[in-house]
Amino acid sequence: MSEWINIALPKGRLGEKVYKRFAAAGFECPEVLDDTRKLIFENTEKKLRYFWVKPSDVAIYVERGAADVGVAGKDILLEYRPEIFELLDLDLGKCRMAVAAKKGFRDDPERTLRVATKFPHIAGEYYRKLGRDIDIIKLNGSIELAPILGLSDVIVDIVETGTTLLENDLEPIQTVVPISARLIANRSGFQFKYQEIQAIVNGLQQQLEETK
Ligand code: PRP
Repeated sequence: MSEWINIALPKGRLGEKVYKRFAAAGFECPEVLDDTRKLIFENTEKKLRYFWVKPSDVAIYVERGAADVGVAGKDILLEYRPEIFELLDLDLGKCRMAVAAKKGFRDDPERTLRVATKFPHIAGEYYRKLGRDIDIIKLNGSIELAPILGLSDVIVDIVETGTTLLENDLEPIQTVVPISARLIANRSGFQFKYQEIQAIVNGLQQQLEETK
């Protein structure tokens, strides 16, 4: 008899695309896409339980086993390094982590670089590898404001279309790392529910090949 599988979806547009992939792969639960405030949905026949989670919280649910699998951005996995298994690159939610600054910015290597970011670990590691001294300014959003107001010299942030940078007279200087959505699994769940989770991986992999 198969086990129930708990699946954490990132709330929002990415999550809807992700759910559609799951559904197309045979793991459907149509109410998931209903326009309600409900957060949790079950397909009792297939023993699937989906729930909508704030995207940056998906890895926490999976790491602690409240979800067996989930979908999280590589940015979150690199920043928080949760103890999970990363099973599949879903080729969705593609963007990049980049360094950006005001147009014409010149780095003075003699001075400590002030870096504003929501991702202090990713930024810290990037500059540590470059051997560059930095001062991290951790912000929670609207990072683009920091160089404009002189709070920082550069930012390390997600760039998707580039519109936010452009509209704020900033420009990307370097790419830190490419980002995309990943299927992740709880480590012990992956062992206890191996067949069920592997069936999801195989289904999604097939979807990936068909959409290529
Ligand atoms: C993200 C990121 C950039 C923007 C990039 O912000 O922090 O601000 O998207 O997208 P673009 O290149 O397509 O313009 P988000 O919407 O997550 O908000 P926040 O970081 O300000 O909270």
